[in-house]
Formats: sequence, C-alpha cells, structure tokens
Amino acid sequence: MNGNLIIKNASQLVTCSGFKAKQGKEMSDLHIVKDGMVVIEHGIITAVGKTTDILEGSDEADFYAGGFDIIDASGKAVLPGFVDSHTHLVFAGYRDEEFSWRLRGDSYIDIMKKGGGIFNTVRATRAASKEELIEIGRKRLDSMTSFGVTTVEGKSGYGLDHDTEIKQLETMKEINNRHPVDIVSTFMGAHAVPQEYTGRQDAYIDYVIERVMPDVTDRNLAEFCDIFCEKNVFSVQQSRRLLLKAKENGLKIKIHADEIVRLGGAELAAEIGAVSADHLLHASDKGISDIAKAGVVATLLPGTAFSLKEPYARGRYMIDMNCAVALATDLNPGSCFSESIPLIFALATLHMNISTEEAITALTINGAAALDLADKTGSLDAGKTGDAIILEYPSYKFIPYHIGVSTVEKVIKKGKLIFDKHIK
Ligand code: NIG
Ligand code: FE
Repeated sequence: MNGNLIIKNASQLVTCSGFKAKQGKEMSDLHIVKDGMVVIEHGIITAVGKTTDILEGSDEADFYAGGFDIIDASGKAVLPGFVDSHTHLVFAGYRDEEFSWRLRGDSYIDIMKKGGGIFNTVRATRAASKEELIEIGRKRLDSMTSFGVTTVEGKSGYGLDHDTEIKQLETMKEINNRHPVDIVSTFMGAHAVPQEYTGRQDAYIDYVIERVMPDVTDRNLAEFCDIFCEKNVFSVQQSRRLLLKAKENGLKIKIHADEIVRLGGAELAAEIGAVSADHLLHASDKGISDIAKAGVVATLLPGTAFSLKEPYARGRYMIDMNCAVALATDLNPGSCFSESIPLIFALATLHMNISTEEAITALTINGAAALDLADKTGSLDAGKTGDAIILEYPSYKFIPYHIGVSTVEKVIKKGKLIFDKHIK
C-alpha cells in the first residue's frame, strides 16, 4: 500500500468537518454525508463528498490505474480516526494488588502516601530497559489501534529523575518511528514529588526546570509539558512556575487540573494559555467559565472517575457553558488501567449526559485540538491526514449503543489499512 486509497459508498460519512476545536453547541454537528466517499493520496485526504459526485467527474478505472486501493464501505459508517489525547502509555509493571485494595476501600491518595501508587510504577519504570519499554508500549499501542485510535498522546512522569524521564520520552519517539499510529509526547516530570524530595516540592520543581527540561527541549523530545496540580502534590503557584518556564522554552501546556480536590487548576490553565485542562472532576463554575472564554480544551477522562469511584466531571454543564470538550482514556497503571474507547463512549453518554454526537466530536476533532493538531487530523477534510475508521454498522449511533464493544471494523492511517477485525 502506498497511501493511495478510496473509500466509497459509505452509508454515512461522518466527517466531523472543521479545523479548530468545536465549542458548546457546535459539538453536536457531525457534518454527515450520505453515500460518502473519501479520496486519500499519498496519505493525505484530497476529496470528500458523495460517491456519485466524486466519481462523476472521473472514471473509476483511473483510480485503479493510479494504484489506488479501493474499499467499498456499503452499509458501513466511516468516521475520522479517534484521537486519544491523554494517556500514560509507557510504563513498566502493574498495580493489580493496589486495585484490589481500592476495591476494599483504600483511597488512591492513601495508597500513594504509603509509597504505592505512582511510586510503585516509578520503581518498575526506572528498572526497565528502553527496549523493554518499547516492546510494552508497542503492544499497548496495537490494542489502542484496534479501538480505532490513530493519534495518541503519551506522557513521561514515571521516572521523576533525569535519566528515566528522558528514557520514557526516547521510548515514545522510538515507538512513534516504528508504529503507524502517531504519538504526541508530553513531558510530565512533575507527575509526583519523588520520594527523594518528600516535603521539598519547590526544590524538585527547580530540579525539573534546571536539570531535566533543558535536555527535553534541546533534543526536541516533547511537544507538551504537563503537571499534576493537586493538593499534597504540586500547588497552583508551583505549577504556574514550572509551566511558564516550559512555555518560555517552547513547550505547549496541559494540566492535570482539579482531579481529586478543587485547587484552581482550571483557572490556572486559562490564565497561562494552556492548550488543555484535563480531568476537571472538581472544577469550579469560574474555572469552567474561564477555560471556555480562553479557548482551553476541557479534556475529560470518565474512565478515571469510574475506576476511582469518583463523581464524573460536569461534562454536560461544560458543553452548555460553551467549552470545547475532549474525551480521552487516561490509560495508566493506577487510576485507570484501560485503553477502551467503547468504555469512554458508554460512560460519557450514559453517565455524563453527553450526546453520541458530542462524544464523537470529543474523540475526534476536539481530541486533535487538545493536541494542537486540529488543522492536521481529527476530521475528514481535504488537506488532512488520511486517518479514518470503518464501522461494522451503518450508523455512528451504534458506537455507544453496542455497549462496551468495539464497533470498529477497519482502521486506516495515512491512507493505509492498519487494522482489520476480520484479518488476524
Ligand atoms: O491521570 N493524576 C495523576 N496521574 C494519573 C494517574 C497515574 C497513576 O496512578 O499511575 C492520572 O490519573
Ligand atoms: Fe493522567
């Protein structure tokens, strides 16, 4: 395959058309074309429209002669590939034992205070070789691909020291080179206060700024910088200090904001011009209004609320307040060990009062916007990367309706078939 592909006769072509984040009411319009067709040339979409209209001006045989692969999507809905804009996909070790403690009633933060939680994964990730991490991450990415994900964000943050943070970011670069799915890397050296720095948050922020960040930026190892802005982790002031420095050094900003308690992370995201504010379970009305006005994408992670048995973020309210909402998995070994896109659809639609259309927007064009990639992927528009999924059903409405089951039959990345449910 050379990245030349036509997908024709789609019962619904759900284009999600647009080149920037969709806010509020805009999230409901999926810009659907019936009996649709997409033409992808050398990995880039060159035409989108009704099959009859596109084929009218040309002879189908020309496409065959031009070396195009052809997929007949009769009776199937076609959508842009999903963008999972918040994950921690590179990590070693598991926390299955801690999961059973949480089922018994122990809280996520209590487990972390006892040296488990993120610290448990830090120990395993420090001990793992880069090759091991690449192998683990690659397999995880294969699983994500099977759910229709064509672009994914991945964070460091299980090193909490110079060498391991760099190792995690190098690992993501390497997986990105070897795997068709695109990975956008985020430097999250301030994911927790390492045990060596207990009680010395400011000194650790200095270390991250002075010792780790210069290598990350000089070697172009990440596009974003993120921090866990949380009570007993990093304060709003410490987060502001680190993130402004990151911005100065050319990194774009994300924040783990108001996840466990209401600390003002959403307000900070708006103040410093973050691309996204993530989690937001406890975001205040003011924080929500600030991010809506500032055009910060509100990235909601319902799998984490579900897994931690916490109340969901106020997704309905945020959309009604004109926010641009994205949804993502937060795949990580602790608070949400799941890369399941069907789970996210189920929780968003059945438990957060988000419509199917809004949820699709949140996982496509708004997911792309959360990575500052809305001009490149996240919709089926001419000029964008040829990233698409073909469902096994005629309508996008089957996505949440077939509860917890992936409806994705084929995944196309840059015009190439990278997953087919029926080919093993
Ligand atoms: O997004 N909040 C902090 N970070 C992750 C969890 C990481 C972990 O538990 O390993 C989160 O919930
Ligand atoms: Fe996270």
